[in-house]
Amino acid sequence: MSKSYTLRIVVTALMALAISVAAACQAPSRPEAKSALPSSLPPPPIGTQPEGPSVSDNVNWAADGVITAGEYRNSRSFDSYELWWTADEANLYVAVKAETQGWLAIGFDPESKMKDADIVIGYIKDGKLTISDQYSAGQFGPHLPDVDQGGSDDILASAGKSEGGFTTIEFKRKLDTGDRFDKVLGKGTHKIIWAYGSDPIFTLKHTTRGSGEIDL
Ligand code: HEM
Repeated sequence: MSKSYTLRIVVTALMALAISVAAACQAPSRPEAKSALPSSLPPPPIGTQPEGPSVSDNVNWAADGVITAGEYRNSRSFDSYELWWTADEANLYVAVKAETQGWLAIGFDPESKMKDADIVIGYIKDGKLTISDQYSAGQFGPHLPDVDQGGSDDILASAGKSEGGFTTIEFKRKLDTGDRFDKVLGKGTHKIIWAYGSDPIFTLKHTTRGSGEIDL
């Protein structure tokens, strides 16, 4: 065997050894790269967090008290009260806004004046939203929380913001909640009543109110 042939064998063996050592050194870094993945995902929802859009929600909606371009499919101004809404297959998403530091409300499908209106009413005080699912028993109230009348609170998610003298409230509910103190909000035209008051007190009468129709 020539000297140069022996040298070539030794060099080839050393190269093979170097490659296998390098591969062995790299191996542990793979699981590390994999385990880094989950930390880039959003944290899981906390139990007390209001229910946001689920993967089945066919809308670009966020409960944050901010109405962004394209967040709602419909909007209408009733004098000084503005309303945005989207209905998908299962849920209704609503935003209401008016120049007030008091309560704002919307009532669905009243029979006469305020009677039998399925009401959602809310206000912001000290930066905190208080919102209530209510039902008006009479033409001029009283409108009491559904839960106080044997029903359930069916507001699935909500948020509000008070800014520049205006209050904005957003909420989500099922089209059909199954509660007898909520109207079934099927496809088509629905009568609404709207109102807002000057103070964050639910029992204080409105300063401004009106009615209209919306298509779901
Ligand atoms: C906070 C407690 C409330 C009280 C004490 C109250 C009381 C009254 C009274 C006395 C009237 C008749 C006088 C008027 O036209 O102003 C009335 C009318 C009306 N209220 Fe209320 N209301 C209350 C809440 C609401 C809410 C939450 C809404 C909407 C969701 C609403 C919507 C209306 C509308 C649309 C009318 C006019 C009805 C008509 O003439 O066709 N009210 N309310």
